[in-house]
Amino acid sequence: MTVNRQRPSQKNHPHSGDEIRSAFIKFFTERDHLVIPSASLVPEDPTVLMTIAGMLPFKPIFLGQEKAPAARAVSSQKCIRTNDIENVGRTARHQTFFEMLGNFSFGDYFKQEAITWAWELSTEVFGLNPEHLVISIFRDDHEAETIWRDVVGVNPKRIIRMDEKDNFWSSGPTGPCGPCSELYYDFKPQLGVEHIDLDDDDRFIEFYNLVFMEYNKDTHGSLTPLSNKNIDTGMGLERMAQILQKAPNNYETDLIYPIILKASSLANINYKKIDNQKRTSLKIIGDHSRAITFMISDGIRASNLGRGYILRRLIRRVIRHGKLINIKKPFLGEMGDAVIELMKSTYPKLLERRNVILLELEREESRFLETLERGEKLLTEILSKNPKKISGNTAFELYDTFGFPLELTQEIIAEHGISVELEGFEKAMKKQRERAKAATASIDLTTQGALDKMVSSTSSTVFEGYEILEKKSSVVGMVVNGESDKQVQPGDNVDIALDVTSFYGEGGGQVGDCGVITSNEESNNNLLIRISGVTRKKNIFIHNGKLIQGKIALGDVVKTKVNQNLRKRAQANHTATHLLQSALKNILGEEISQAGSLVDFNRLRFDFNYSCGVTTQELIEIEKLINYWISEAYDLEINYMSLEKAKAMGALAMFGEKYESKVRVVDIPGVSKELCGGTHVRNTSEIGLFKIINESGISAGIRRIEAIAGPAVLEFLNERDEIVNQLTNRFKAQPNEVCTRVIALQQELKETNKELVLAREELAIAKAITLIEEAIDIADNKVLIKRLDGLSGVALQKAAEKLIAKLGEKTAVILGGLPTPQDQKKVILVAAFGKGLLSRGLKAGKFIGEIAKICDGGGGGKDHLAQAGGRNGVALGKALATSMSKLEEELQ
Ligand code: ALA
Repeated sequence: MTVNRQRPSQKNHPHSGDEIRSAFIKFFTERDHLVIPSASLVPEDPTVLMTIAGMLPFKPIFLGQEKAPAARAVSSQKCIRTNDIENVGRTARHQTFFEMLGNFSFGDYFKQEAITWAWELSTEVFGLNPEHLVISIFRDDHEAETIWRDVVGVNPKRIIRMDEKDNFWSSGPTGPCGPCSELYYDFKPQLGVEHIDLDDDDRFIEFYNLVFMEYNKDTHGSLTPLSNKNIDTGMGLERMAQILQKAPNNYETDLIYPIILKASSLANINYKKIDNQKRTSLKIIGDHSRAITFMISDGIRASNLGRGYILRRLIRRVIRHGKLINIKKPFLGEMGDAVIELMKSTYPKLLERRNVILLELEREESRFLETLERGEKLLTEILSKNPKKISGNTAFELYDTFGFPLELTQEIIAEHGISVELEGFEKAMKKQRERAKAATASIDLTTQGALDKMVSSTSSTVFEGYEILEKKSSVVGMVVNGESDKQVQPGDNVDIALDVTSFYGEGGGQVGDCGVITSNEESNNNLLIRISGVTRKKNIFIHNGKLIQGKIALGDVVKTKVNQNLRKRAQANHTATHLLQSALKNILGEEISQAGSLVDFNRLRFDFNYSCGVTTQELIEIEKLINYWISEAYDLEINYMSLEKAKAMGALAMFGEKYESKVRVVDIPGVSKELCGGTHVRNTSEIGLFKIINESGISAGIRRIEAIAGPAVLEFLNERDEIVNQLTNRFKAQPNEVCTRVIALQQELKETNKELVLAREELAIAKAITLIEEAIDIADNKVLIKRLDGLSGVALQKAAEKLIAKLGEKTAVILGGLPTPQDQKKVILVAAFGKGLLSRGLKAGKFIGEIAKICDGGGGGKDHLAQAGGRNGVALGKALATSMSKLEEELQ
């Protein structure tokens, strides 16, 4: 491609990626914009998977849910987009990770300033030739057209109208949106202005998008005007770098090319001298390496879900393309390092997280390499039969058994011009989901039918148990011993649905309440049902219990009584879980995110994404911080509000969880704010004390902390105290002496064991000496060959030397055995030759080395004494027999 560009009109225009970024920020800071640092790639908004544009962190401001930090802002935002992933490396400009430079107005300036500044920035700061620029506008946006034509003075032929498909921008199916106007750079201005086709990628590149954000789109696609008219813009940093650095594509700019060079050096190839296919692989590696490094740095870990899956897919693509260019060893760590090196001055967090990044990359790489080879072999076999299509079942097997994402299979086989039979793949996938479902369902087949019937015939249970533990309610559904329509007798198991209840139904990680259901005071029935748990099915609370006495039937009015003591324990644990999440974010870093939790009466468990182990020191700090918060006696504030408002207030939501439009926000002021339906203490001081019991990894990148709070801590301490008491009694020592005593005992035991081994050996050697009787005569020489198991090499050598001393100089002794008789994989062979044999040229080292080969081993040593080892105990008999015949030959 010939790049036809005019010399910039001014000197000292930005050139490097860093210079472009700084120039953009400086231009808008000089125009009163507040600089906002890049937000994480993981958006706060749980409805969006990744940060896809510079505007995303400002979405609540555009929607009027949050106050703007200033009327104008400027940022350079890290972004990930994977919708065009198959174009990465194949076109000049597609990327997954990129930086978006943006200037924003929150109800302040609008079209005129946005347009004139964009022009000034592009032509004067970046020095682009005005004759090389083309502008697109939304079809009906006459205002924008007038500004471009009459205020800026752009040749009308260089202003192109586009429809809503191209020039109406929104951040997703719903949310803030508006018409936009884009700036394109023309690489071939000599072709004139008569036939401008902005889809011609070889000629044009869009580098700056100005969105006139004035509407909100709802789920039906209807537009309502926002209370403010806003500006949202985005300039692709890498694209501007391509233009200013006169690079043929984004990848060959200083923002990506050094990473490509790293990969090409690992593959021992020269980017400039290879075919297009290999170059594409390098470009993909260059692009994706940036994406995966930044994603991990922002707390994402590879998994099969959501953004974890995006990361996994990108990592796997890098590995596969690494293979295509013949990188033979694991290389992701080196790619991660190359990215960190290149970007660390702009994103210092990369360096801080280096260990975590490399660990995750290396772990995911080794995991994938294990399956990749097997999968690729299978795929090659299939492809060798020249199929027209790959069946859905095969693609599914590759996915299910070999961890090949469908897209990867599709990409590999696309290179052979064939595709996957998608319908079959979907079917196999669906079948697997059903199998999984059936497997769960079969656990409770007996009650399933009756319970389902009850659930479908009753209306939602009203939960009124946050404050009140006793409640009058009516029985609206009942299953007895797993069956519908049955009379209930004392001793029967019952599942009861009530219209309203004070029992908390298991949910949000918290266990259901225990307690009793009794007769309502007004009735004289002496009903007593012991409730051992409450679960939820849809919105029905199912009280599981046993009828102790009395009678109960549908329609009866009863009284629910929650066990207050247990409820208090669960509450202490639940509030402590919120404190724990905050403390983890405080001590380990904001990017940790909840992966699951369990709150019961005796303990709590919190799972979170984090790739390293938590150190003891960190655990101590976490525990201290939580106990400090407890002692500060914060009152909890619990409020209901719209989901939008809660998010705008910064309440933590669990990603992937479905929330109603009205949510409950549990706020420990200044410490934690979470969306949560669970029960909590009123004041943190009610928790009393918090103690971490264990920290461990439960799967790749997921850690688990188990802890206790409230009265459970005292019970735990009592148990420990009891153990210490037993130890002090036994050792007759003070508690602080027990540890030293145990260490001393261990040492003593070790030494005694050593002595025991020596004593045993001495005994065995002494016994070996009695073997002299078994020596045979071969032509005036003595030969003793013997198997002795259970002795170390040193003991065998000693025995052999003693035997030579007893039998005289013309003796050969060969001893062999298994040092540990149960372990057939370890063989020791020893040869000792007396002086009289050495003079005949016999050498113990050489001799025993040869013999050891029979036991799959080898070794050697001096001429008079040598030892060899082997791995095959079964062949020991043969080895000894061979020694005999060899010696017979030698000595005859
Ligand atoms: N939000 C606009 C975009 O991403 C600027 O193109």
